[in-house]
Amino acid sequence: MKEFMLQDKVALVTGSTSGIGEQTARLFAKEGAKVIISGRRAERGEKLVAEIKAAGGEATFIQCDMTHTEQIKNLVDKTVETYGRLDIAVNNAAENPDNKLITDMDEDKMDRLLMIDIKGTAVCMKHEINQMLKQGDGGSVINIGSCITSRVQPASIGYIAAKYAVLGMTEGVAKEVSGQGVRVNCIRPGAIWTDMLAEYFQEMGAEKDAYAQSQTALGRCADPKEIADGCLWLASDLSSYVTGSIIDIDGGYRLI
Ligand SMILES: NC(=O)c1ccc[n+]([C@@H]2O[C@H](COP(=O)([O-])OP(=O)(O)OC[C@H]3O[C@@H](n4cnc5c(N)ncnc54)[C@H](OP(=O)(O)O)[C@@H]3O)[C@@H](O)[C@H]2O)c1
Repeated sequence: MKEFMLQDKVALVTGSTSGIGEQTARLFAKEGAKVIISGRRAERGEKLVAEIKAAGGEATFIQCDMTHTEQIKNLVDKTVETYGRLDIAVNNAAENPDNKLITDMDEDKMDRLLMIDIKGTAVCMKHEINQMLKQGDGGSVINIGSCITSRVQPASIGYIAAKYAVLGMTEGVAKEVSGQGVRVNCIRPGAIWTDMLAEYFQEMGAEKDAYAQSQTALGRCADPKEIADGCLWLASDLSSYVTGSIIDIDGGYRLI
């Protein structure tokens, strides 16, 4: 019988109604985890649950808007109510980049970036890690950062600030809890072909292939599954000696 990498684990993936989160949820379910799908779009979340179940996996959708922190507590509470525990958390939900020069900064957009990417990620970790510590047998938390913090681009000040905060929080929280068996790491994706990147290209007037050629060493955008593979490694025992680490899955974006 095939051994699954995440057999009987319970995994929560925020922002899993599309893109990187969706592919991560699909992969975790394929590897035997019971997966909580989350985001604001219930229809997409329920469709993904149905597809995972049809493929023989187990998943449940729990709606959550990261701008309402009581919904984040509810998300973790309902996860535990549904599957009894929490072993893996991927904090992936994020606001789209701001795409504005500092001289044109949109303060509402800045508030959303700080609220969703920074406070949202922090509040997720608070409730997830409280649950993991209560269980007492470890856990893996994976925060999704961005390559924007390995090589900055103009016109993204809010996004840069938010994703630098994700790096700092990853290291700080890892230091707090790794002694109790909970590992906390961060993946920095490069140019991943999702709705978020498509919108970025549209707003910035960029073209996919030209951007990939000029901005990545491998000369291409990635499929979101390539980030999901990194999440699987960090979620599994294959990375048992890894904590407080920043993992670049960026096609060599930072080398340009
Ligand atoms: N694509 C790239 O090139 C790239 C590069 C570097 C880093 N990243 C990072 O990768 C992560 C995933 O992005 P993606 O590219 O996969 O984009 P995406 O397809 O647009 O997915 C974003 C996800 O976040 C959720 N989300 C957004 N606002 C939310 C809110 N207020 N409350 C709850 N969920 C919310 C969305 O769900 P709902 O709309 O249903 O709420 C969606 O599932 C993000 O952290 C992003 O910063 C992406």
